Amino acid sequence: MSASPLKCCINPSILSADFANLEAELARISNADAAHVDVMDNRFVPNLTIGLPVVERLQKVSPVPLDAHLMISEVDRWAPQFADAGLASVTFHVEASDAPVKLARELRARGSKAGMALRPATPVEPYLDMLAELDMLLIMTVEPGFGGQAFLDVTLPKIRRARAAIDGSGVDVAIQVDGGVTEETIVRAAEAGANIFVAGSSVYGKPSPADAIESLRANAHLVFAKNSAPQPV
Ligand code: DX5
Ligand code: ZN
Repeated sequence: MSASPLKCCINPSILSADFANLEAELARISNADAAHVDVMDNRFVPNLTIGLPVVERLQKVSPVPLDAHLMISEVDRWAPQFADAGLASVTFHVEASDAPVKLARELRARGSKAGMALRPATPVEPYLDMLAELDMLLIMTVEPGFGGQAFLDVTLPKIRRARAAIDGSGVDVAIQVDGGVTEETIVRAAEAGANIFVAGSSVYGKPSPADAIESLRANAHLVFAKNSAPQPV
């Protein structure tokens, strides 16, 4: 259990939104904690989405903070420019970074929270000593690249180990999960120790994205309430 209560955040991914109406799509999730923006370059992942000019515009019109997830190569060069755009948080993949400590420091120096992402098969252990450099660890729960994939339960032990390491070292690092998060899988991810939940198709695929956010939040809160309840002696 965490020493301080974990803040539960629901961050819908606009990857599943209507790309022809992104301003209106952001307005439909104004009860979210942040909007998750997936940037893909068709090199780090086999898919292509939006780049810096579009994200800069989204930052200006969004009713909620933006949480960028950069699935791009040469991320050491690009990520600081997303921080300069005023994004609340910028997450890079450690597999794409030549100097992750330097990059995390640069993001913070430019006023963004620093997030570092791990693909499902990337272990967390080599990075435990740099947790204090981060505000958020993103543990991918699908292979990055596409929305609508099934949650990989094989990632749950890594989430548990990361949570134990964070709590054990007393650093304040959020654990974000991204991919296949539904009303059902959010419970398993929260029980394992995640506290920021990205959901694309299970928010924008519903008739009311705002209601879908509240359903996801309610399920995560049930787990958080159970974990903070006094334990029997
Ligand atoms: C996948 C992206 C996700 C994606 C999740 O590479 O990083 O953010 O939008 O979509 P769902 O929630 O549909 O799995
Ligand atoms: Zn993402």
